[in-house]
Amino acid sequence: MKILVTGGTGYIGSHTIVDLVQNGYEVINVDNNSRSNPKMINAVEEIVEKKIKTYPVDLCNFEDTRAIFQENNDIKGIIHFAAYKAVGESVEKPLLYFENNNSSLVNILKCVAEFNVPHFVFSSSCTVYGNPASIPVTELTPQQPAESPYGSTKQMGEAIVSQVMNSLKNQQAILLRYFNPVGAHPSNLIGEVPIGRPANLVPAITQTAIGKLPQMQVWGNDYDTRDGSCLRDYIHVCDIAHAHTLALNYLVENKNKTNCDIFNLGSGNGYTVLEVIKTFEKVSGQKLNYAIGPRRGGDVVAIFANNDKAVNELNWTCQYNLEDMMRTAWEWEKKLA
Ligand code: WQD
Repeated sequence: MKILVTGGTGYIGSHTIVDLVQNGYEVINVDNNSRSNPKMINAVEEIVEKKIKTYPVDLCNFEDTRAIFQENNDIKGIIHFAAYKAVGESVEKPLLYFENNNSSLVNILKCVAEFNVPHFVFSSSCTVYGNPASIPVTELTPQQPAESPYGSTKQMGEAIVSQVMNSLKNQQAILLRYFNPVGAHPSNLIGEVPIGRPANLVPAITQTAIGKLPQMQVWGNDYDTRDGSCLRDYIHVCDIAHAHTLALNYLVENKNKTNCDIFNLGSGNGYTVLEVIKTFEKVSGQKLNYAIGPRRGGDVVAIFANNDKAVNELNWTCQYNLEDMMRTAWEWEKKLA
């Protein structure tokens, strides 16, 4: 069965292509490499020992996007990753985010309708919950206002997908809400390649440990958490990737309960920034050079997932713990050096 992955050259997309191919799916990729390194696909091909056709197309261009479907009228499923995802950048350039993330989604959905593609999986994010009133969050936890334009594009994206599915007859979708994806593939051939100074915690830790960054800041330790630093649900990127394969299987086997089911993809465990740093130091055997800095605007104090729905309905079990996440992230950073 042929699956189109958009943004498949990116961090989560590349790991998902590996899992899909290893589980018997045929995959084609579309990525304009605006935020990713085209060489990542060669590494994916090395792992799966198969060629992965990549269309270097900007999904904001409808005609170019439509041409992919004209050439591949046997696409049975789409996993839509392609989007900008830097929270800070989205605050500085909201229009860039609204145009890129929403126009590309609309163009893909127009092709889903025109070419009658039955299965659609949308890359969403825990950011849709904003600052939740209670944790852990379930899929029914009410959404608070998004903390950034990036978060707004995910809230809007979910609404666009669910309302388009209601208007179509033979299409079903799944929204996957990622918590904090970290780590790298055990082969050490693919991993996260941040562009510029990393905003996310784990690349900041590994780049500081390897000496690319002189020191990292812990953005605030005066929050109402067990050690004062923010609490998040870190989840290994390979566990996230496999959940996509299971979500596709769920749709293909018609197990979905509605035409737009939602799943939290988190480990179900919350760790603070300082606990992640301590775990990294234990796994790497290195002391990390960090200082306590001011709070970062837009940060949610604490959030982690109740992942029972994905565990029970998708038959999903996380294979990697926090030490595995730190170990694979550190091995990957050393490989990049
Ligand atoms: C985690 C914690 C920081 C860097 C965002 C998006 C989410 C997803 C992942 C796309 C926070 C602290 C970080 C540093 C620090 N993006 N931190 N020093 O903000 O939870 O989630 O990225 O899918 O949708 O919202 O992730 O890794 O940026 O921050 O102290 O140098 O680490 O303040 O408390 P976040 P993050």
